Amino acid sequence: MTTDDHVLDETLLPGEDRVEASLRPGRLEEFVGQDRVRRQLELVLAGARRRGQSADHVLLSGAPGLGKTTLAAIVAAEVGAAFRATSGPAIERPGDLAAILTGLEPGDVLFLDEVHRLPRTVEEVLYPAMEDFQLDIVVGKGPGARSIRLDLPRFTLVGATTRTGLISSPLRDRFGFAAQLEHYEVEELLAIVVRSARLLGMHVAEDGAAEIASRSRGTPRIANRLLRRVRDYAEVEGDGTVDLAVARAALQVFDVDELGLDRLDRRLLEALVDRFGGGPVGLSTLATSLAEEPDTIEDAVEPFLLRCGLVQRTPRGRVATAGAYAHLGRPLPPAGQVVPPRTPGAVALFDPDEA
Ligand SMILES: Nc1ncnc2c1ncn2[C@@H]1O[C@H](COP(=O)(O)OP(=O)(O)O)[C@@H](O)[C@H]1O
Ligand SMILES: [Mg+2]
Repeated sequence: MTTDDHVLDETLLPGEDRVEASLRPGRLEEFVGQDRVRRQLELVLAGARRRGQSADHVLLSGAPGLGKTTLAAIVAAEVGAAFRATSGPAIERPGDLAAILTGLEPGDVLFLDEVHRLPRTVEEVLYPAMEDFQLDIVVGKGPGARSIRLDLPRFTLVGATTRTGLISSPLRDRFGFAAQLEHYEVEELLAIVVRSARLLGMHVAEDGAAEIASRSRGTPRIANRLLRRVRDYAEVEGDGTVDLAVARAALQVFDVDELGLDRLDRRLLEALVDRFGGGPVGLSTLATSLAEEPDTIEDAVEPFLLRCGLVQRTPRGRVATAGAYAHLGRPLPPAGQVVPPRTPGAVALFDPDEA
């Protein structure tokens, strides 16, 4: 363990590389931003500690890369418990869940990622486990089958989801504390970039870090990823030091523009403005013209463009806003043919509805 106490240094989560893991804050006080959630979680955990009990089950929701997995591991670290991680799609049958639950030690924190993708049959086994720490399992098949009830150790379930709306209400109701993570402000991302740069042993000037932060789409995972690409550039093309000019040059090489849009984002805006006259155009037509799947456009590309106020969804299809024209440097078509930006005169990086 380093002085920063990275709980996950040894226990990498599936699909996670070592650098990513090394940048995870290990304690609540190192976790930047999300002040309201942090304060609430602090109380939930302190309350449990005082009573000498395991903490209530916690549901974390929010877009990818906002810190759900990190917070789950922090819950375990803060109560001094072991952290076990699995995910909804990995648990196919009730028996899989039973095996995991019966293997828990008292007080353990069980992290269930993508909890909205738990099969319904498994979910039903989870209810009594969460509520009464009991497991009903059927042993045997056919006429000889019987149901037995097992006592489980008290554990804390931390569920994570990108889509709160997809969680059934009986499951949602069994979490004692539910938190919604929001996108981060640029100053918070700046603090994250500075912290990560320190952990990576990089020399990053404040203006260079700020440039990375402002192009990170409100998302810590993206901030860390851009920092690593800027590090590559700085080490290969220079002496490893990152200032504003180096950050800008590096991000240009990697196709990340001032708003944080990548190639596909810009291709979508260009198609919308240049080929479809600003819209409205239907999702499938738009996707076909980009040679992408509609799902990719809807789940991975559009949310940020909507959040920036560059695109709007209307009943008749997708529409480019005045902000989109401005961002692409295209002249605005005659008034009345284009949707005004929601924040007059400016391209809002953060959705005012979310602020
Ligand atoms: N509040 C935060 N402060 C510092 N780093 C963060 C914060 N939230 C996320 N990160 C960083 O971003 C990365 C992605 O976070 P993660 O918890 O995996 O997101 P999620 O599970 O919501 O997709 C982590 O490696 C972590 O280093
Ligand atoms: Mg995660």
